Amino acid sequence: MVDWRLYEHPILEFDRGKEVTIYLDGKPMKAFENETVAAALYANGLREFSKSIKYRRPRGFFCAIGRCSACMMEVDGIPNVRTCIAMVKDGMQIKRQKYLADYLSPFLNLMKLPPQVYMRLMTRPGIIYKPAMMVMRQLTGLGSFPKTIEVTSGNNEGALEHISTEFLVVGGGPAGMEGARTAAERGHAVVLFEKTARLGGLMHQAGNATFKKDLKKYSEWSARMTEQNMNIDIRLSTEATPELIEKENPDALIIAIGAVPYIPELTFMDRSKVIWAGDIERENINPGDNILIVGAGLTGCETALKYLQAGKSVTLIDALPREQLGLGTSPINAYYLFGILEEHKVDLYADTKLIDVTKDHVVIERENKKDKLVFDTVILASGMKAKANFEFIKSLRDIVPESYVAGDCNDNQYTIWNATTSAFDAAMAI
Ligand SMILES: Cc1cc2nc3c(=O)[nH]c(=O)nc-3n(C[C@H](O)[C@H](O)[C@H](O)COP(=O)(O)OP(=O)(O)OC[C@H]3O[C@@H](n4cnc5c(N)ncnc54)[C@H](O)[C@@H]3O)c2cc1C
Ligand code: FES
Repeated sequence: MVDWRLYEHPILEFDRGKEVTIYLDGKPMKAFENETVAAALYANGLREFSKSIKYRRPRGFFCAIGRCSACMMEVDGIPNVRTCIAMVKDGMQIKRQKYLADYLSPFLNLMKLPPQVYMRLMTRPGIIYKPAMMVMRQLTGLGSFPKTIEVTSGNNEGALEHISTEFLVVGGGPAGMEGARTAAERGHAVVLFEKTARLGGLMHQAGNATFKKDLKKYSEWSARMTEQNMNIDIRLSTEATPELIEKENPDALIIAIGAVPYIPELTFMDRSKVIWAGDIERENINPGDNILIVGAGLTGCETALKYLQAGKSVTLIDALPREQLGLGTSPINAYYLFGILEEHKVDLYADTKLIDVTKDHVVIERENKKDKLVFDTVILASGMKAKANFEFIKSLRDIVPESYVAGDCNDNQYTIWNATTSAFDAAMAI
């Protein structure tokens, strides 16, 4: 039997735990309980874990951190398990996902449609989306989640386990919608509470600039798919409170209530002059011609670009030194964004703090020197803080032991990527 494991190493020690047996398509294989399924299969010589959806090209395991889906296999009756982050259990039954598309690949290969066409094939009109997806999932080997599964390993071996759960999601932003859809697609009955009258959360503000059409499209798509999912009971204009959660008594909870913007204490806080970047579109505010933007993170930079393109004069300040600006985002994005801002002649001042705003002027501090300047509008974009919600989150977690915190309120990163991946992981963990 092939065994690719290292058993001796001059520096590393291996704590693999007890030896167990797993089965790949019915064939027994040696594994250890501290290994992931993918690691155990790799050690047994497996190199092809899945196939690409359209052309059925072989896929090995790639990222090994549960992000790329290359290692998806059926494990104990559950399709699409990312085997690189699932731990081995004695008696586990693993299957390669082989379906009709294997026989269809010669025809699919002939169908050389450009990606933008076949990625959207059968997603519109909305009414055909669900039945079309059911067919496509079978064709492409993605399978569908069974209503019950037979437990093939562990203490309850042989028992039938129902996998439908009353699953509650609080917050209808990108995190809440992703969590609700993923859980619903896995067969759970989901209730989603959103305190405002529409889904989308901060994505409404995030996708507003003319150069962010793709984000706006994603936001609309995410809301449409959530609304169309029959397993999700969406309750708009419903603010979750500990009392309401207690009354619903869910088996599991995803808390995705977002964060709140950091707003400094200023002498003059009138909306005619001082506004948070996220409120500009929502409150339909038209800033003056001479604008100060506080905070040169992604939001501040994008807001600056939007008004520079509209022909306004924009000064952008940040308390951080110049070399640290943009560190929170990908270096390529930051390099590109600051390049365009320079082309549009932004006045950028690093190492510069906002001290106060009065009715007549703005006080800033640079190199220990205070200056008074005059601006029509001050736009605040100094970041978000999740901590303001921590007490509330704790009170909800105390009620439902199986609860997960996703998106901006997990204080990890204030991006849509963090929102959707953390919510997806939470819904997959249940
Ligand atoms: C101007 C601006 C531009 C941005 N641009 C980008 C960008 O280009 N790229 C990017 O990745 N990110 C961007 N972001 C950040 C991104 O929008 C957020 O990271 C993302 O929306 C967070 O998603 P979320 O679901 O965690 O929270 P949110 O989007 O804040 O959603 C939380 C939802 O929970 C609801 N809620 C709160 N409390 C309750 C309660 N008690 N009961 C029921 N519902 C509740 C809220 O009403 C809200 O709908 C931008 C943000 C802003 C403000
Ligand atoms: S290898 Fe990328 S998800 Fe498992």
